[in-house]
Amino acid sequence: MPHAVNPWVAFAYLVAGVCFILALRGLSSPTTSQRGNRFGMIGMGIAVLTTLVTHVPTITVLVEGYDYAALLSAIDTVAVFEIVAAIALGAAIGLTTARRIAMTAMPQLVAAFHSLVGLAAVLVAAAAYLNPVAFGIALPVLTPDGAVALINPVSRIEMGLGVAIGAITFSGSVIAFLKLNGNMGGAPILLPARHVINLGVLVAIVVLVAYFTFDQSPWVFWTITALSFAIGFLLIVPIGGADMPVVVSMLNSYSGWAAAAMGFTLHNSAMIITGALVGSSGAILSYIMCRAMNRSFVSVIAGGFGAEAGGGGASAAKTDRPWKRGSAEDAAFLMSQAEQVIIVPGYGMAVAQAQHVLREMADKLKAEGVRVKYAIHPVAGRMPGHMNVLLAEANVPYDEVFELEDINSEFAQTDVAFVIGANDVTNPAAKTDKTSPIYGMPVLDVEKAKTVLFVKRSMGGVGYAGVDNDVFYRDNTMMLLADAKKMVEEIVKALD
Ligand code: TAP
Repeated sequence: MPHAVNPWVAFAYLVAGVCFILALRGLSSPTTSQRGNRFGMIGMGIAVLTTLVTHVPTITVLVEGYDYAALLSAIDTVAVFEIVAAIALGAAIGLTTARRIAMTAMPQLVAAFHSLVGLAAVLVAAAAYLNPVAFGIALPVLTPDGAVALINPVSRIEMGLGVAIGAITFSGSVIAFLKLNGNMGGAPILLPARHVINLGVLVAIVVLVAYFTFDQSPWVFWTITALSFAIGFLLIVPIGGADMPVVVSMLNSYSGWAAAAMGFTLHNSAMIITGALVGSSGAILSYIMCRAMNRSFVSVIAGGFGAEAGGGGASAAKTDRPWKRGSAEDAAFLMSQAEQVIIVPGYGMAVAQAQHVLREMADKLKAEGVRVKYAIHPVAGRMPGHMNVLLAEANVPYDEVFELEDINSEFAQTDVAFVIGANDVTNPAAKTDKTSPIYGMPVLDVEKAKTVLFVKRSMGGVGYAGVDNDVFYRDNTMMLLADAKKMVEEIVKALD
């Protein structure tokens, strides 16, 4: 790989890597996230341009200053056409998808993108396995059976790991996509003896990757591939709805490691750097989410370890229990009389796109002397930071937005908890019902407020985890049944 040692190429990739680090740093806070995004785009631009310059023969020849005759003989118009066509096609698909996608469908889009990274890793490893000489990882060796391309052992390990991680990422992400998109039920599917099967398959993959360094026979490579596809499926299928946020960030991490493995096979340091950054930041995010949800990281990645068949208090809302219904006027009156109102946004606010009118409502309350705060649960909505992004979009001041651990103790001294489209993140069953699928997850103690106003569309609708919420039926709760945006618009009118 002569181009890999070009110091300018190494330098450009290093600059791209630094841009990616600055991007991650910027994305850690809503105030710096736009700058972070710009760094990411610049880094990716540099990486793509450098890769093109070093891999399209025509440009390489120009850059490296070969003579004119060499330039002519090296022009590879087919490669240029293929690359430009692939970039144009990918950009068109990416642009249309990004413009059309609803914010609420972001997690499944992310899962779909992860599956593509996984598939790319499998295809690169397969291409390298089938034509190792072209990838510069094998030398032709003469054997009694004729010339054989003997792949060097280090490349075999890289290839084996690359295909395994890529295949796991692909099939796991496809299942995550189907679950998040509602094509598959969110409830855990628990196969009998699944831990024994999973462990057996994982051990078989590790043993085969090691054996691959001694024997490069097709059956070894393709068995690793097939078993890895199977284990990706087996690991994600048993994971229940409420744990999906961790799965998405975990698959994000896997897709990074798959890209890093591809980087080794392709001798591309930018891919190794980027893959390692994505892999490690995804792993850190998964760990943070597990802590936020009080889940063991190992049990989630081991495929729903600890989830019991038939367990879980998952049940539809029990509408036969008595509950109180309120109107927009009631809500406006109660909130305008309050000293403090804590707004708890959730997935339903995102669906209804109620954030702008919600800020309007908060402005009106503040004008009447009411203290307004927002309480954000780490997994409210359908992606990390979902609520923060929406509230920032509606120009809600950052100093009014509080994380769960900073505000939870305040509900007991608060007049009104205004829950808008949130459900699981307020469900006290997480604290009391050991059979509940959300048991152990920290939740916002909304029921401790003097009055709880609960906005949702119907008593029948349940949250993502599919469990009924006892707060609906409490004496201090008033249900405001309507689309979140419509209800808040009416409250704003009533406040006028
Ligand atoms: P959910 O528990 O999903 O509850 C959403 C509530 O919004 C439901 O009660 C629903 O009831 C209501 N709703 C839906 N559309 C509405 C509309 N247009 N107007 C008014 N209400 C509407 O949401 P949550 O409390 O935010 O909890 C998030 C859940 O998603 C957790 O279980 C979490 O584990 C999971 N999850 C999170 C993520 C991340 S990273 N945040 C990713 C995947 C999964 P109706 O249907 O009756 O209106």
